[in-house]
This record gives sequence, structure tokens and C-alpha cells, in this order.
Amino acid sequence: DRLPELLRRMPKAELHIHIEGSLEPELIFALAPRNGVKIPYASVEDLRRAYAFTNLQSFLDIYYAGASVLLKEQDFYDMARAYLLKAAQDNVVHAELFFDPQTHTARGVSMETVIHGLHRACADAQAELGISASLILCFLRHLSEEDAFETLEQALPYRDKFIGVGLDSSEVGNPPEKFARVFARCRELGLHRVAHAGEEGPPAYVWTALDLLKVERIDHGVQSGRDAALMQRLAADRIPLTVCPLSNLKLCVFPDLASHNLRQLLDAGLVATVNSDDPAYFGGYMNENFTQTFAATGLSSQHAYTLARNSFAASFIDAATRQRLI
Ligand code: ADE
Ligand code: ZN
Repeated sequence: DRLPELLRRMPKAELHIHIEGSLEPELIFALAPRNGVKIPYASVEDLRRAYAFTNLQSFLDIYYAGASVLLKEQDFYDMARAYLLKAAQDNVVHAELFFDPQTHTARGVSMETVIHGLHRACADAQAELGISASLILCFLRHLSEEDAFETLEQALPYRDKFIGVGLDSSEVGNPPEKFARVFARCRELGLHRVAHAGEEGPPAYVWTALDLLKVERIDHGVQSGRDAALMQRLAADRIPLTVCPLSNLKLCVFPDLASHNLRQLLDAGLVATVNSDDPAYFGGYMNENFTQTFAATGLSSQHAYTLARNSFAASFIDAATRQRLI
């Protein structure tokens, strides 16, 4: 069976990776003493044992705690560098990296420190690894819209170093409409817009992300499978879904990978893509997401080709280059 080799070798884009979710326990344990940060785990193994999640919130609690070791520009660089090396090994040729500035500015780390460290890693990766990488600033939806506006204000001096905005963190109870005004402002500023919707939350959140936030892609969106009218809308408007199978497995969105609805989404004509979300926490980077999902759900080489093509079609690569890639 040569399908796993095809999956590993095919060029692909990753569009849903939280860079703080690529922070491996080994790097957490290297950064903690470097920065004088105490972590309540005895060892790398002890920390990894805590990675047993029951839902999104149980993961987020430990993910934000892990990010507390990031203080200096070099820390952000080292984290993004490690991810981009892994991505290049998986034949990812283009990556759009989410980052959560509020997780860091709330601890007294400056916006400049965060963006400069991440951006320098992206620039070096282009020069040294031949992988293109850009940044998408995510607002934390459990915080207020006012806090999001303030974060946008702090980031605008670095407007040339990120291509768009996203919306992440605790979904249920924090619907897209909470951020309608800040997303309208981002649209005026010419920023790309994406939002997590329909990961754990209802199809209604996907509708409002589209109609009120005017997002260009939906992150996750797997709950859309429960709403036939929404499925038709997503197909008709070719709204990409950045699906993350191993994440959905580890956060108990589906009971097992065989039950994942990626195939249903593809066969309904949606522009679905495969992504890693938080690979350090969910046990697999891009190629693991591809090989494990294909093995469990019986997707074909034709699906592989479609997923690779979708990843470029859904990307924010400039239109002329994108057209050449798809
Ligand atoms: N932040 C990091 N990973 C996330 C996810 N899967 N859903 C929502 N917010 C996140
Ligand atoms: Zn995510």
C-alpha cells in the first residue's frame, strides 16, 4: 500500500496551527529554567501524562499554562522555528500560523516581543527551508470585545507582519456575534478573517461567523454536518473548513477516528483541508493527521489529491501564485 507514502510526500499547506500548541514538553522544560518560571510538573513525562483531555476546555487550561514559559523574543523564535522544521519535514510548503497575543500580553510580554520573534522565524524559514509562512493574530473569545479591540490597537504598528485575524479559545457561550464590531474593523483594515466555529459549538455559530464576522474560512466546522442547509451554503460559496482530525479525536469531538466526518464533508463537495491544530498536545503533526485519518476512514488517493489542492486553494497565498498551485 503506497497511500501513506503519497500522503507524506505530497506538497501541502497547513492553515490551522496554533503556534503555542506546537510547544513540546521538552521545550517547555528548556525554557522554564532559562526564564525562571516554575512549572508544577516534575518531568517531561509527568507533564505528558497530564495530556488526557475530555473536551476543549480541559485542553485549553493546560495549553495556557504551558505558554507561561514564553517570555523573550528568542523563546517565540525557538518555538516557531521548531514547528517550521517539523512542517518542512512533512512537505508542508506553506503555513499560516495562529498566535494568541493576549495569552502573552496579559503576563506583561510586549506585542513587539511576540510578533518580532514569530516573524523572524517565518522569514528565516523562507530563506533557509524554502517554506513560506505567515501569521494570523487570534482574539481569545472568552475575553471581551473591548480587550480584542485593545489587542488590535497594540498590533497595528506591526500590521505588515501579520496577514489576518482569527477567533479561538472557549467556543460554547462565546458566539461569533460577540466580536462583530472588531471583525468589521479588521475588514476595513484589509485583514483576512477566519474564526473557529462548529468545533464543539452548534451549526448556528458557523452561520453567524459567516454572516456577521464575514470570515473567509471556518476553523474546524465539523458540526456543520448536522445542518443540511449550512452544508449547501458552505459548498455553494466554497468556504473552506480547516479540519483537524487528531485534535477532534483527542478532545472527544468524535469517539474515534473511524467516526470522523471528513469524508462526508469532502464527498458533499466542501473545500475541507487537514491540519494539526495543536500538534504538541494532540500527538501528531501534519503527516500523522493524514496517515492516521486515511487509515481509519478509508479515504482514497483521489481524496489525498483533493485535500492537497484544497489546502492551497483555501490559503491566503497571493492570488497569482495560488492559481498556479491549484
Ligand atoms: N486554541 C488552541 N487550540 C484551539 C482549539 N482547538 N479550539 C479553540 N481554541 C484553541
Ligand atoms: Zn484551533
